[in-house]
Amino acid sequence: MKCFVQKTALLFLLISFNLTSAQSTGQDIFSKTCFACHTIGEGKRVGPDLANVHQRRNEEWLIKFIQSSNSLIESGDSLAIAVFEENNKILMPDQPLTELEAKAVIDYISSNSPDPNNPNTKTPKQIFDPTSITQADIDRGKNLFEGTEKFENGGASCISCHAVEMPGVFNGGMLAKDITMVFSRMGAAGVDAIIRTPPFPAMINSFGENPLTDKEVKDLLAFLYDADQWNQTKKYSGNNDIVLIFAVILGLNFVFVLFLFKWNRVKKNSVNSFR
Ligand code: HEC
Ligand code: HEC
Repeated sequence: MKCFVQKTALLFLLISFNLTSAQSTGQDIFSKTCFACHTIGEGKRVGPDLANVHQRRNEEWLIKFIQSSNSLIESGDSLAIAVFEENNKILMPDQPLTELEAKAVIDYISSNSPDPNNPNTKTPKQIFDPTSITQADIDRGKNLFEGTEKFENGGASCISCHAVEMPGVFNGGMLAKDITMVFSRMGAAGVDAIIRTPPFPAMINSFGENPLTDKEVKDLLAFLYDADQWNQTKKYSGNNDIVLIFAVILGLNFVFVLFLFKWNRVKKNSVNSFR
């Protein structure tokens, strides 16, 4: 009985650990393990530039190659051998990724590759790189959004028509959509395009003759990205409930084990007292 309880306690412990060790996303895996040797659209490093590799190769092959290019080459796969020879016979180390993880990285690579039909378009990273923004950019974006800092070429502040819900941001206008989470909805490239060349008459009236400067657009993007992230983590923190429930169950398990332990001793004592 005691052993069973301990085993369930251990099981719950393992389950809660698995829940808390956040699942790696494609971006995580790429920046932690692939980025040292590969870029997406910024040229060759130790390994080839992976821009649009998903269009040159099929997914099944890519997964196998990423997991173990070694085995593919050894199995005589002519494409793998060609890639190996083209890259000065440098072997890519096997990556201990599951099929799902490999797929997530491939998705990340494809969604961050430049458009092959229009090589002059910027990659999402060239438009907006979240790792390069500073708090100063975010603050200036907020000031521009709220109108406490005027646009260099004039034009109405965004807040006269839009709201962004976040602590510390003024209440916005209701003339147009709430854009608190517009980053999740349309991505950096989408938001960038709308701010630079708005397709909506109300915005064309404000900015058609008064285009925003490059830096102003970048700072607004930084602010909107930050607002989106803030609201996402607020949403994610809801998921912690599951972890909390397991933690409580785990706690109860320990209390139970403790109780059994005591109970055994009480039993022993009572047996002794009969003697
Ligand atoms: C230590 C350097 C290194 C690391 C880390 C690395 N690669 Fe590679 N990769 C290479 C080299 C070198 C080649 C080309 C030669 C070969 O192995 O055949 C390559 C080739 C590739 C190819 C084939 C490209 C083509 O044109 O078909 C893909 C896809 C690839 N890597 C993806 C990844 C992914 C995804 C990761 C991270 C999970 C990763 N690599 C990590 C060095 C690396
Ligand atoms: C005069 C009013 C006005 C101003 C000022 C204005 N917008 Fe807009 N904006 C609109 C309207 C109208 C739309 C169309 C969608 C809607 O009805 O909400 C729109 C749409 C957008 C969208 C797309 C929203 C979506 O989810 O479809 C974004 C992003 C956006 N605006 C950003 C901005 C930013 C950033 C600024 C400040 C530089 C700004 N807007 C200034 C009126 C305005």
